[in-house]
Order: sequence, then C-alpha cells, then structure tokens
Amino acid sequence: MFVYDPAFLQTAACRSSITYLDGDNGILRYRGYPIQDLAEQSSYLEVAYLIVHGELPSRAEFEKWTHDITFHTYVHENVRKRFMDGFHHDAHPMGILVSTLAALSTFYPEASAVHDRANQDEQVVRLIAKMPTLAAFAYRHARGLPYAYPDDDLSYAGNFLNMMAKMTEPKYEPNPILEHALDVLFILHADHEQNCSTNAMRSVSSSQVDPYSAAAAAAAALYGPLHGGANEMVLRMLKEIGSVRNVPEYIKRVKQGQVRLMGFGHRVYKNYDPRARIIKQIADQVFEVTGRNPLLDIALELERIALQDDYFISRKLYPNVDFYSGLIYQSMKFPVETFPVLFAIPRSAGWLAQWEEMLLDQEQKIARPRQVYTGAPRRDYRPMDERM
Ligand code: ACO
Repeated sequence: MFVYDPAFLQTAACRSSITYLDGDNGILRYRGYPIQDLAEQSSYLEVAYLIVHGELPSRAEFEKWTHDITFHTYVHENVRKRFMDGFHHDAHPMGILVSTLAALSTFYPEASAVHDRANQDEQVVRLIAKMPTLAAFAYRHARGLPYAYPDDDLSYAGNFLNMMAKMTEPKYEPNPILEHALDVLFILHADHEQNCSTNAMRSVSSSQVDPYSAAAAAAAALYGPLHGGANEMVLRMLKEIGSVRNVPEYIKRVKQGQVRLMGFGHRVYKNYDPRARIIKQIADQVFEVTGRNPLLDIALELERIALQDDYFISRKLYPNVDFYSGLIYQSMKFPVETFPVLFAIPRSAGWLAQWEEMLLDQEQKIARPRQVYTGAPRRDYRPMDERM
C-alpha cells in the first residue's frame, strides 16, 4: 500500500529541527527563536550560524565563523573569466548563478566526500561565503560592468552592496540603513522548512552528490515564478497595472482566473506571512533614504482590496514574503532580474543546514517517490510497416 499525494500536500518527507512554521497562525521560528526577535536583534551571519549549528554562537564562535566566511568570499579567477564571461551579455543572473554554483563542484572535488563532517563544515562556509560574490558577478556581467571584488572589512550585506555598486571610489561605504535593511531581508529568507528549493536540495543530495551540484538544483527550483521568482513577477505585475485606478480591473481578471495575484497566497501560510509584516516596516525605513517607491500605492491598494474580497478571504490568500520585498529591492536600485538572486544568497544557509541534517538522519535514504501508473497495459510490438 502507498499514498497518492501529488505535490506533497499531506506528506512529511523528513523530521527536522531547523525551522518551525505554523501557517494557520502565521508563526515562523528558526531553531525555536521567533523570526521577529531575530529580525530585530540578530544579524544574518549570526542567524546563518544558528540555522547551521543549531545554537546561537558564543562571541568566540561568532568571531571565528565571521572570519571563516569572510576568508572564503573570493572565487577562483576561472569562475569569473571563463564561466561568467562565457555567458551572453543579457543572460539572466539567476541562470548564471545556477550554472556557476554547479561549476564550483569541479573546483572542489573533495566536496564529494559528503559524510566527512569536517569536509561538510568547510563546504558550508565556502558556499555561504561565495554566494554573494557569484550573485554580484552575475549582475555585473549582465550589465557589462567591471567586476568589483569582495571587501573583507565590510559586513556580509555591506560587502554584497560593495560588489554590486562600487565604481571608481577607492573604498565603498554602504549606507547603514540600506545595509541593515538588506541584512534583515537576508534573515527573513534564510530558511523556510520544506519549500520547493529545499526539497530539491534534499532530494538531489539524497543521491549523495556534492553540495554544490545539489545547491545548483535548489537554486534552479528557486528560479521559478511560483517560488523565488515571484518577487520579480510582483514588480512586473505592479508595472503592468500601472496606476491605482486600474487595480479593481486587475482584481477582476484575477478572480476570473486569467492571472494570479503575484506575491499572494502560500502553500503553508493561511494567514498573513509574518515575514511580510516585518518587510513592510523595513520598507518604510528604506523609502526614507531612497524616496517613496511610486509602485507602493498600487501594492497597498491591491492588498486593501484583496483582504476584503471574498475570493481571497475564502481561499485564505494573504501577502507573502515576496509582495513587498521587490519594492524594497527596486528602491535600492537592484534590477528586477536580480531579485531571485537576492533570495538565493541567504537561502544558502537553509539549504546547507537541511543538507547536513539529512546526511545525519539515519532514517533517510535516496529520495524515490512512487507513482500511480496510468499508461497502456501490456501490448505486442508491431513492425513499423504493420502500424496504421
Ligand atoms: N492569485 C489568485 N488566486 C490564487 C493565488 C493567487 N496568487 N494563489 C492561489 N490562488 C487560488 C487558486 O486559483 C485556487 O483557487 P480554486 O480553489 O478556485 O482553484 C486556490 O487559491 C488554491 O490555490 P493553489 O494553487 O491550489 O495553492 P497552492 O498551495 O498550490 O499554491 C502558491 C501556492 C504557488 C504560492 C500560489 O498561491 C501562487 O501561485 N501564488 C502566486 C505566486 C507567489 O507569490 N509565489 C511565492 C510564494 S512564497 C515563496 O515561494 C517564497
């Protein structure tokens, strides 16, 4: 006997002690700590440590972790010269990221020793450290800009801003409000239990392939418009709507099933996504620096109408993390095609924590779902000339 459960609506595929999510009550915790507390009091690198190691670090542990990550931010020059430069000038940065992540496995062949704990830890540090570099290089390539190398004096988010924005100035100084906003966004995206990309990470890793190949698969899953690509789609949708007065017409089209309201709805949250609430507050801080994003009014009106419309209420469709994050990214001058990349950077901590947890789990085996066969019964082969 087995269970038919397409898209795993009712099936738990693992035991996990990383992220707790109560979608009905809008609760999200990493290792027991509420997401609101972490967003207010922690930093992305501390949260990444917590997610990967299970506990908040002591000062000494945090200093070592920060040093190790900072020490591994550079990528092999061939990654930049041969891989990045080989892509077409208008290649989507997410396509570049997926490919270069997979390529890293060829630079670190020792990573295939997946059961060696010390080796695992080294790859975790490497990957978290190199994600911003790969992401920023992918962006610079797509824009035809010279690559900016990591600045190890800066914070994780500050260094990423440096690699994205630095031009001729000898030292890039990130704006502290934007740096903090990006750091909080990284915290909010660090893990989200068994979502599509994490499931890809676990499923692919269950074959015991190296973590770079598995992370490339996870990033590919994240690229899709129903997952990490949604923040890009939200921006495109808001631009298409164009003005607050067109919102009712757009809602009508959503209700007729012609289009989806991007950034709304979630497989697990049947309540307001707690991350969306935090992002809304961060947006106000960012807009004080960058000026108010004109698309915000359209987003607020969409939210206002949707939250009182029976179509959305009866289906429990609320804004998710992607609804407002795109507006912040756009105000910070990130082009829309970099949005999924901005999601992939912090999610690497979650993917890697889930990868290590899976490798240690004695109950796990190679992922291999069953199917319900719906094809033809046994039939005899007929030579081509005898076929109708
Ligand atoms: N706009 C309009 N209607 C929607 C939306 C939406 N965004 N989301 C769901 N619905 C409707 C469906 O049409 C369906 O209606 P029906 O019962 O009349 O057929 C009902 O709500 C249930 O929807 P499902 O597609 O069955 O829900 P599922 O859990 O499979 O989908 C998903 C979740 C993919 C997130 C969906 O809500 C969606 O497409 N949202 C828009 C894309 C998006 O924002 N994705 C980001 C998710 S968060 C993340 O990955 C970081």
